[in-house]
Amino acid sequence: MENTAAQRKPRVLSLIQPTSVPTLGNYLGALKNWKKMSADNDCLFGVADLHAITVRQEPAQFRKQSTEMFALLLAIGLDPEQSIVFMQSHVPQHAQLGWLLNCYTQFGEAARMTQFKEKSQKHADNVNVGLFAYPTLMAADILLYQANFVPVGADQKQHLELTRNIAERFNGVYGSTFTVPEPYIGQVGARVMSLQNPTQKMSKSDPNPKASVMLLDTPDQIMKKFKSAVTDSEAVVRCAPGKDGINNLLAIYTCCTGKTMEEAEAEFAGKGYGEFKTAVAEAVIEELRPVQQSFERVIGDKAYIEECMKKGAESASRLAQRTLSKCMKKIGFKQI
Ligand code: TRP
Repeated sequence: MENTAAQRKPRVLSLIQPTSVPTLGNYLGALKNWKKMSADNDCLFGVADLHAITVRQEPAQFRKQSTEMFALLLAIGLDPEQSIVFMQSHVPQHAQLGWLLNCYTQFGEAARMTQFKEKSQKHADNVNVGLFAYPTLMAADILLYQANFVPVGADQKQHLELTRNIAERFNGVYGSTFTVPEPYIGQVGARVMSLQNPTQKMSKSDPNPKASVMLLDTPDQIMKKFKSAVTDSEAVVRCAPGKDGINNLLAIYTCCTGKTMEEAEAEFAGKGYGEFKTAVAEAVIEELRPVQQSFERVIGDKAYIEECMKKGAESASRLAQRTLSKCMKKIGFKQI
């Protein structure tokens, strides 16, 4: 059947930085949902390797992590026949549109981004222009594909808002060019907190290794991390205000098992935290097992990875070029 605009499924796009192995939080909060979304949307998912160099990267390590992140996207079940899975740097249009959008973004707007302010403090010795232009490159990622929806975490909402402003401004000057994207509202994943400080989000960059479960941790490591998770002194497994540690473990448990909060509370009524923590760790180990097995298969098949990268780059580039050409024509670049 002809794929007309009216029949087109909503287009959903998201990218993830290859800066380290994702955490259980990245998985339950984002990646697991990417797979679900790909069933009824027209999806593009990518590895934001261009964004990663806003912080200095060691070349061999960077190459390895980018490849592993791409392999992981395949391992979580994204189907390169169904969705476009790509590496950002393989599609030159991202950097090209990024430049154009820099010229339609005010210095003051970019300077207001809280992530820029935070990162400039954290990496005070390397406050580069790329770090400043990070959000306009992200806007290019999104606008190139005319994405309707972008699943992003709370920390990226401001960047999406900026993207909308840039798109609206450009459309206002030149006529309809970009789809104005919206945050993806749908089934939201669990917000997984640090196992050591459960009022803070679980983070890849937490200096305390016990705080975060990484997607490729061994069952043994996972068990140890849950056993040392911070709880409280009430010794009752229930979800309640102030019980941050237990609330977090319950959220992880329900997300991995598909049980409701009530079912989980009932299951552990009268049982101690030790037993509960073991059960949570086992649920996580089971949840991650197929992803880890699939990752091992994919990462061992370099030819398959490269074939998927090429396919993703070609499909993404074809779509991206349409928008880039349209945008350049409107600005007044001489076409040949
Ligand atoms: N900045 C995002 C993050 O760190 C990653 C990202 C880059 C992204 N480009 C994007 C997310 C486009 C959504 C859409 O999480």
